[in-house]
Amino acid sequence: MNCPFPTLDEDAQEVQPLLVGPYCRTPYSAPSFFNISAMSYGALSAPAVRALSKGAKLAGCWMNTGEGGLSPHHLEGGADVVFQIGTAKYGVRDEAGDLSDTKLKEVAAHEQVRMFELKMSQGAKPGKGGILPGAKVTPEIAAIRGIPEGQDSISPNRHPEVNDAASLLDMINHVRDVTGKPVGFKAVVGSYGWLSTLAQEIHRRGIESAPDFITIDSGDGGTGAAPMPLMDNVGLVIKESLPLVVDILTEHGLRDRIKVIASGKLVTPSEVAWALAAGADFINSARGFMFSLGCIQALKCNKNTCPTGITTHNKRLQKGLNPERKSVKVANFCKNVIHEVEVISHSCGVGRPRLLERKHVRIMQSNGTSVAMDERYPYKEILPEYLPLTAGE
Ligand SMILES: Cc1cc2nc3c(=O)[nH]c(=O)nc-3n(C[C@H](O)[C@H](O)[C@H](O)COP(=O)(O)O)c2cc1C
Repeated sequence: MNCPFPTLDEDAQEVQPLLVGPYCRTPYSAPSFFNISAMSYGALSAPAVRALSKGAKLAGCWMNTGEGGLSPHHLEGGADVVFQIGTAKYGVRDEAGDLSDTKLKEVAAHEQVRMFELKMSQGAKPGKGGILPGAKVTPEIAAIRGIPEGQDSISPNRHPEVNDAASLLDMINHVRDVTGKPVGFKAVVGSYGWLSTLAQEIHRRGIESAPDFITIDSGDGGTGAAPMPLMDNVGLVIKESLPLVVDILTEHGLRDRIKVIASGKLVTPSEVAWALAAGADFINSARGFMFSLGCIQALKCNKNTCPTGITTHNKRLQKGLNPERKSVKVANFCKNVIHEVEVISHSCGVGRPRLLERKHVRIMQSNGTSVAMDERYPYKEILPEYLPLTAGE
């Protein structure tokens, strides 16, 4: 909703970095609110990862490794990296497939690796692990993941050691102790009572024990490969789950302590602005950045025959993907989304995007009329004993 008195250019404010993980040894001051979502090296080709890494550096945003481990291609461009720990712990697993603290420390020793994300689930396949077909498990990818080459790479449905809120917190705190960097988790929200249990457990242990961020993925997320029954209809879509999770955190006084990252079809500036208004601190996009690389949605991600070279390890098909040239497109997409979200914020009368609120959004109803978002989802009152702890924005 625009306002009658938009922000003058001279009153516009710079986007501020936001601090994540105030209690860990190396907190992260994240510069960009729009970032590259988890896509593994394996699902993506080497030139695609290299283009994203260089593009992220040019735009000043982070890129998430996805569950396939950290490759030299992720580091090549010099961008900030979020390392994802998938349920098979690719890249940080020992011989038995368990989490290796030695390998975690090696990954954390890279200054570029700023945060760690435990993957609980992703949009396209909540309750199902990752699937990388054998044809895509090249010798290099096998070595990075710590698995045999040429065989299907299937990760478990969940981290075997995480089966309730308490064990999730145990794992988060373990990874944070070992790495010294902010740790959060990514999940598709379906049932949500467990989030209140998690909040109560955090208060029992102390505020430091909280995850530093939660990435909420929409039930209609994208993937290189997912089982049909889960793809479209399992898991809440981000329009429902984002306000719901923000409200649960607010109710428990954790809204400032735990940063919220939203993903799932947030590709255009208006969708990104909506997510900020609904309560997200950051937005991740996977498919938006694939489009910037030249994805034509040929639907061959899991076949190793992607005609654009983005999701194939076939050198001939990769020829058209020039990482240098594509990195400029990646950066332009990121920078222009940010710029246009700023334009929307000014039209709504606020100085910068993170000042957008639910009152700036209306929800369309099936009868063609709309209702104010803050009427449908009013912000919950923050109890005085839980008032914000950090100097975050
Ligand atoms: C090629 C591809 C690979 C992906 N790999 C991962 C992954 O390794 N880990 C993960 O959590 N999500 C993965 N995702 C899901 C995205 O990170 C994201 O959550 C989902 O696509 C929704 O966001 P979007 O609508 O911006 O694509 C992948 C998505 C794509 C398209």
